[in-house]
Amino acid sequence: MNTAVSDIEVIKAKKTKIHDVDFDHLSFGSTFSDHMLECNYKDGKWQAPKVVPYQPITLDPSAKIFHYGQSVFEGMKAYKDAKNDIYLFRPLDNWKRLNISSKRLAIPEVPESYFMEGLKTLLKLDSEWIPKKEGSSLYIRPFIFATGKGFHASPANEYKFIIACAPSGAYFAGKVKVLIEETYSRSANGGVGFAKAGGNYAGQFYPTQLAVEKGYQQVIWTDDNTHEYIEEAGAMNIFIRINDTLITGPTSDRILDGITRKSIIELAKAEGIAVEVRKISVHEVVAAAKNGSLKEMFGAGTAAVISPISGFGYHGEDFDIPELENTYASLMKKRITDIQTNKCEDPFGWRFKV
Ligand code: PLP
Ligand code: COI
Repeated sequence: MNTAVSDIEVIKAKKTKIHDVDFDHLSFGSTFSDHMLECNYKDGKWQAPKVVPYQPITLDPSAKIFHYGQSVFEGMKAYKDAKNDIYLFRPLDNWKRLNISSKRLAIPEVPESYFMEGLKTLLKLDSEWIPKKEGSSLYIRPFIFATGKGFHASPANEYKFIIACAPSGAYFAGKVKVLIEETYSRSANGGVGFAKAGGNYAGQFYPTQLAVEKGYQQVIWTDDNTHEYIEEAGAMNIFIRINDTLITGPTSDRILDGITRKSIIELAKAEGIAVEVRKISVHEVVAAAKNGSLKEMFGAGTAAVISPISGFGYHGEDFDIPELENTYASLMKKRITDIQTNKCEDPFGWRFKV
C-alpha cells in the first residue's frame, strides 16, 4: 500500500514553547514539541495527513477508544549528529509493526508514505527540538485510536493517527531491579502480546504497582501457561548473559518483536559474542545466579536503550547480579548508539537520514 503524498499541509504554531524547556535536565516523555502530525480515517480511507500545532483533542464520549480500547502505538527516536543532520533508526520497521499491531486490533493500516513523509515533515519543522546532549533524543510517539462513535462492541469506522514528539532523557534513572512474575500474565497464546496495543500496558500497571511497592522498578513477565519461562519486561525485551553466552527468548505471539532486540542480536554476533535465541527458564536463571555463572541481565528497547539490571526478585528471594568491568550491556549500548547518532559506519544499513 503506497499512497503518494506531495507537500503535506503545515499549519504552524503561533508561538514556540521551546524556550520553556531545560534541555540539560530532560525527563522522559513529559514535554512536547510545537507540532504534531494528524491524519484522520473516515469514509473508508485515510485522509491527507497534516502537520498542526501540538494541541488537545476533542472526542465524543462514545468514541470506541474509551470503551473497547482500540488503540496501538509505536516508539521511535530522532537523533542529531555533530553537523545537525537528523537521523532515525530503522523507521520502516516501526511503520511495519504499527500496521501489524493495527491489523490485530481491526484498525485500518496506514500507508507507508503517510507515515514516512508525515514524520519527515514534522521532524524538519521541529528540528530544534531534537536534543544534542549525549543520552537525550527526541522520542517519537506515533499512535492510532478509534474516534468513531457508538456503544456497539465492533470496530470503529473512524480513527485518528497522530505522531507527537517529546525531547527526552533516560527512561530509567540508574540500574533497574526487576521482579520475576509468578502470578499475573502480560499476554497469552493467540492474544495481543506481540502488538503494541495500549491495553497491553494498562494490564501491566497493577502488577507493576505491586512490584514497585516491594522495591522493584519493572516486572519480568513469564509465560502465562506455566510461569516457568522468561518472556520480556514491561517496556523492553530481556537479554541474559550466562558465562560468555548472551541469551534472549524467542519472539512469539505473546512477545513484542523489539527492534532494539533484533539489532542487538546482530550486533553481538558481529562482535563474535555467542548468542542463543531460545527459551530460558526461571529455574536456569536462578541456578546461574546461585552458582555465579549469571554475569549480566539487561533490557533492550527504544525508550530504555540498553538498561542494565542490577538484580531480580523471585519467589520471595532477592538475587544480586555482581557488577562486571566490561559488560556486554555497555558494549552493545555503545555500538547501537554510535550507529544511531552517526558516530560510526553503519554496515547494517539501519540509519536513516531525514
Ligand atoms: N517490549 C515491550 C513490551 C515494549 O513496550 C518495548 C518498547 O517498544 C520493547 C519490548 C522494545 O521494543 P523496541 O526495541 O522496538 O522499542
Ligand atoms: C518504547 O520503548 O518506545 C516504548 O514504547 C516503551 C514505552 C512503554 C515507553
